[in-house]
Amino acid sequence: MSGSGGSRVTGQVLVAGGTGVVGREVARELGARGHHVRVCARRPGGDGITADVTRPETLKGICDGVDVVVSTVGGSLDIRKVRDRTSYDSIDNLGNQALLAEAERAGVRRFVYVSVFSTPKLRRLEYVAAHVRFEEALRESRLEWGVVRPTGVFAFFLEVLSMARRGRAVVLGDGSARTNPVHEADVAAAVADAVAAEGGVVETDIGGPDALTRREIAETAFRVVGREPRITGTPPGALRAAAALFLPMNPRLSALLRFGTEVSLGDAVAPALGTRRLEDYFAEKRSPVPG
Ligand SMILES: NC(=O)c1ccc[n+]([C@@H]2O[C@H](COP(=O)([O-])OP(=O)(O)OC[C@H]3O[C@@H](n4cnc5c(N)ncnc54)[C@H](OP(=O)(O)O)[C@@H]3O)[C@@H](O)[C@H]2O)c1
Repeated sequence: MSGSGGSRVTGQVLVAGGTGVVGREVARELGARGHHVRVCARRPGGDGITADVTRPETLKGICDGVDVVVSTVGGSLDIRKVRDRTSYDSIDNLGNQALLAEAERAGVRRFVYVSVFSTPKLRRLEYVAAHVRFEEALRESRLEWGVVRPTGVFAFFLEVLSMARRGRAVVLGDGSARTNPVHEADVAAAVADAVAAEGGVVETDIGGPDALTRREIAETAFRVVGREPRITGTPPGALRAAAALFLPMNPRLSALLRFGTEVSLGDAVAPALGTRRLEDYFAEKRSPVPG
């Protein structure tokens, strides 16, 4: 990324979802560029604003005095948070629509949304479709808007590094599907550029500099931890069956499994706007975090 973008420093920016993987970087980047940043989430910590986008009554007034809203709010893809059964549509689409309505009511000038890079095949999945539905609502709104669509961010691939540390990695299918993961800080720079852009519409699809097969991503992790690569391909059938099984009792988990499976099996390569490299990121995170 250029990292400079427009030079205009706006008034207050509200980063909804600013405690998440992407949102934290966005808040940091905007602060570094001189914006006055507030963060909101359900558990914001510090002087952040507590709000739940699925409960519109908690959003009242949170955009008052705000010039630009950035939303990185989304249902987590972390399987450890599986107890949250709220659907992706309720959070990513309807929740962000509630936030957008509050932003419009408060006279916010611009709304920048972190969506997801996808292919036509992926757009049929609930997780991706929820993002697309909200993009449509944003397009219809009265506000100036921007959308940034990243491929998988580096943090999402740390599980591959953990597997390499343990000595064996699993890839779905034959591991030949290619993608170019992107550093969350490069995404944040694109978001900050979209915040600073004068008027009009900004749409940025963003991936990292290296398009790698899933197998190459695993090999990168093994190289970084200095172990001989032991990579097993596993057929996707069991995960697809699990997704179908969970659909009636836990549709959120089902949607997560479907996305996790299908995104690993097809190519998804976005414009290589990010400059930071996955191998360097893995090297920084080589040692497990204590505790
Ligand atoms: N991770 C990736 O590889 C990736 C790739 C492409 C696109 N994206 C998209 O980028 C966006 C951010 O992803 P991320 O990885 O940063 O997600 P994340 O780490 O799970 O962060 C999500 C943020 O949203 C907040 N949030 C969740 N539910 C909420 C609710 N009901 N009301 C208010 N806030 C809520 C979370 O805080 P609380 O839990 O405290 O509320 C957190 O701050 C999502 O739309 C995601 O789909 C992610």
